[in-house]
Amino acid sequence: MDRTRVMRELETLRVWGETAVGWDAKTPVNETVDEHGNPFPSKPGFGVPDPRAPKRRVYDDEDVRRLREHLREHNGIRGLEICDPSEVKRAARIFHRDGFVVVRDLLDAEHLANFREGSAQALRDILSVPGVGERKYMTESGRLPHRYSYGTASASRQMLHEQVWASMVDLPTTTPILTEIFGSPDYFVLGAGGDLCLPGAVEYQHLHMDVGESHHISKARLATAEAIGVELRTEDAKDAAAGDSGELAQATRRQIVDFTPAVVTINFAMCDLTWENGPIRQIPGSHAWRMPPVPPEDEPEWMRLSTLVGAPAGAGVFRDNRAWHGATPNLSREIRSLPNVEYGASWLPGNGAGRKTMPHEVWETLTPHAQHLCRRIKAEPDVWPPGAGVMHPLGAERRAAAARMGGGGRQPGSPGG
Ligand SMILES: [Fe+2]
Repeated sequence: MDRTRVMRELETLRVWGETAVGWDAKTPVNETVDEHGNPFPSKPGFGVPDPRAPKRRVYDDEDVRRLREHLREHNGIRGLEICDPSEVKRAARIFHRDGFVVVRDLLDAEHLANFREGSAQALRDILSVPGVGERKYMTESGRLPHRYSYGTASASRQMLHEQVWASMVDLPTTTPILTEIFGSPDYFVLGAGGDLCLPGAVEYQHLHMDVGESHHISKARLATAEAIGVELRTEDAKDAAAGDSGELAQATRRQIVDFTPAVVTINFAMCDLTWENGPIRQIPGSHAWRMPPVPPEDEPEWMRLSTLVGAPAGAGVFRDNRAWHGATPNLSREIRSLPNVEYGASWLPGNGAGRKTMPHEVWETLTPHAQHLCRRIKAEPDVWPPGAGVMHPLGAERRAAAARMGGGGRQPGSPGG
């Protein structure tokens, strides 16, 4: 592929509307690379192959056309509920039931324009690294081709050094819903990043959850459950006689665990999510399931079609990070970008701990509530977070950059997005 042409395409890159970016026929389907960019490493990481993917990454390929027709006909959750930002209680109710909820108009025109520009620039940086051989782009270490994460591609593992991401942590549309879900204004920001797929990401990303469940009910978690209205019942006398502890009833314990996620992420849609452009999929109710997500070869078709088609640009999905989810094929000519902000529950231990990925200078520009939310990840004055500002698809390059900038540069395995 002519390098000059690739760079010219990148200059015009936008994360909404038609683009020439993507659809690289020279990047084999299901190919992953290791941290140095070598294809097909022994550890695929997050690049779990999709056994049902089309054989070629070509817009008019017969397999691709067949899949496109199938998606046109069937893709998307039937009757997907989309809330208005003012429907705070309804949004929280759906969130607790399904493990996610879509809310429209989270971003006004200005915030949407800023977020589009910021995420386009970050993507331009990632894609400007030349691919191996004749490939248009370098694939991100441990991911499937044409799929990237703003978080993991950043050498600091987060995007909170960017004003655009930092300015999204406390919005008049998101804060009331987060407060309702968390039962307290004392939740906090863990990080910010998000994921995207280029046109021509023909493979399904495997279903996964971002965080596991400890099943531990601390005093603080119990208090949160009470605050959001969980009725605390103890085992009745009959159960106690049968040998139960006489403490919280099993049904109550389950409800507490189900209704108090440790981590909630908001992914913001930069374009309308359509049947064709790789809408994220969410499996309703799976935040409360006690089994690991099914591997790609066992996935029923309905789980592949359980996507958020219909969520408009400027909308967002609040996700319980325990819920099963995954990315889907982008067979369009539009980049599907979902930058995000990740929040932790107030009951999570470790106040003051965590990687300090937001520069003090950025923190100073925030609203008082946003400053409160960012208390655990704010760096000290004049300390630049190691790796912040370096975007690279390869793990080894990111680690080296972070080390050069004074940090250990550890790249945690958590994939985000
Ligand atoms: Fe994920």
